[in-house]
This record gives sequence, C-alpha cells and structure tokens, in this order.
Amino acid sequence: MSDQLLHCHDQGMGIPILWVHGFPLDHTMWQYQYETLTEFRSLAVDLRGFGRSGLAIDQLSLGQMADDLNDLLEAKIPGQSFIYVGLSMGGYIAWQFLQRPARQRLAALILCDTRAAADSKEIQRARRVSARRVLDEGPAVIIEPMLEKLFSPTTRQRSDDRIRATREVMLATEPAVIAAALQAMAERPDATELLGQIDVPTLLICGQQDEITTASEMASMAERMPNAHLEVIPDAGHMAPLEQPELVNKAIRKFLRESAGS
Ligand code: MLT
Repeated sequence: MSDQLLHCHDQGMGIPILWVHGFPLDHTMWQYQYETLTEFRSLAVDLRGFGRSGLAIDQLSLGQMADDLNDLLEAKIPGQSFIYVGLSMGGYIAWQFLQRPARQRLAALILCDTRAAADSKEIQRARRVSARRVLDEGPAVIIEPMLEKLFSPTTRQRSDDRIRATREVMLATEPAVIAAALQAMAERPDATELLGQIDVPTLLICGQQDEITTASEMASMAERMPNAHLEVIPDAGHMAPLEQPELVNKAIRKFLRESAGS
C-alpha cells in the first residue's frame, strides 16, 4: 500500500514521531499530543480501513498493518530516525513492526495501554462473537460496552467531549473493518518472548485505572524489557493520552529529552 492510500496527519518540525492509534479509532485520538508536541514532526496515521484510510476491507492482519507503516515511513521519511508511539492495538502492531526493516531507524519506542501477551481462548471466542454481531447489527452493539471500559470513572463523571468524539469515530468505522480487526487481534501471536530483545529506549505508559491492559501487567512487561521505564498516569483509564494529555505529554517530553537526546 502507498502512503496515498494510508492517510497520515503530518504536523510539526523535528524528529518524526509515528502515532499509531487503538481499536476502533483513528489518528484524532492523538490530537492533544500532535497539537502540543510541535517540536516533533508528528505522523499520525489512520491504519488500513480506519478513519480517512477507509478502504474496503474483508481481511486484515496486524502484520499487514506493520508492512503499511514500514512503507509509509519509507515514502515519507526515508533514511531518518523516528519514534514509534502506539496505543493498545497500536502496541500489538509494534511487536510486528519491530521485525520490519524500518526498525533499524527506530530511536525510541513508546507504548501506551497495551500488552505483549496473546488473547486467551475465551477472549478469542468473544472477539469472534463480537465480529459476527457487528456485521449483523452494526458497530453500536460493541461501542457502548467498550466506551464503559475505555475511560476512567473520572473521565466518565466529567462526561467529557472526548467520550462523545471517540463514540463518533467508532460509529463511523465500517462494520467490515471492525470485524476484520477483531479477527486480526484474535489471531495475533504472543510477543512476550520478544520483550527481552527490545533494547531501544522504551517508555511504557498506562492509565492507573486501565481495566483492559492493567498497570500491573504493564509493570511485568517493563521488568522483562532491558531498557524500559513505566509511567502510571493517575485518573486515567485505557485512553490515558486522551484522558490526561498534560501528564502524558510531560512524560513523553521528559523521556525523549533524557533517552533519545531530543
Ligand atoms: C484497543 O484499544 O486498541 C483495544 O482495546 C485493543 C483490544 O481490544 O485488545
């Protein structure tokens, strides 16, 4: 796929940061990062099928998404080093991306609210049931239960505009893309063994109230990684960068200043 098909919001100057969104979202989930961290060049991508990269999709794999990101970087910033930031599904894709040629140019890795482990059989089954329901009944059937889990009680009490905007992005996503991504996540391999080999400076970020990928699970990941540090963000759930952008941006700036010399 060429970058003409993969939509990429390109803003700012400096060392490039590739922002890879979660499921079933698009690049706008990073708006409080790319609008603030303008000393970096943000490449905030819409993955295959999502947001403005809305292509007809009936099959997806996380490996194919990693290939798309590799191609995008080759087209947009050939030969330049960059930072990869992924949230949740964007983190699952990172494990595949680390096996692509562009990994040679990776200066630092930032993974938010994600995990290395594969799905249990039970979660795989639940994803397949959800995929079928989304195809039969539309995306709304998974969206309300998912929104409950994505945001912390603090964000939900504020009944924030951010929840409304997230709902709109989800509702605008093609049912076939949601179903294909659920299937792709269910099939992803376990990346736990890879953690010990990731020596690039890494920042792990997790909302303290994340119910999907918990801070304790991310602490275990950090322990296995030779060059990683975990930042736990208070009053945030699974969408920590959107829920607490000031704290997350501060952690990203500090990490990149100290470890990637930016
Ligand atoms: C995400 O935020 O990308 C999803 O929660 C990932 C998942 O369903 O495992």
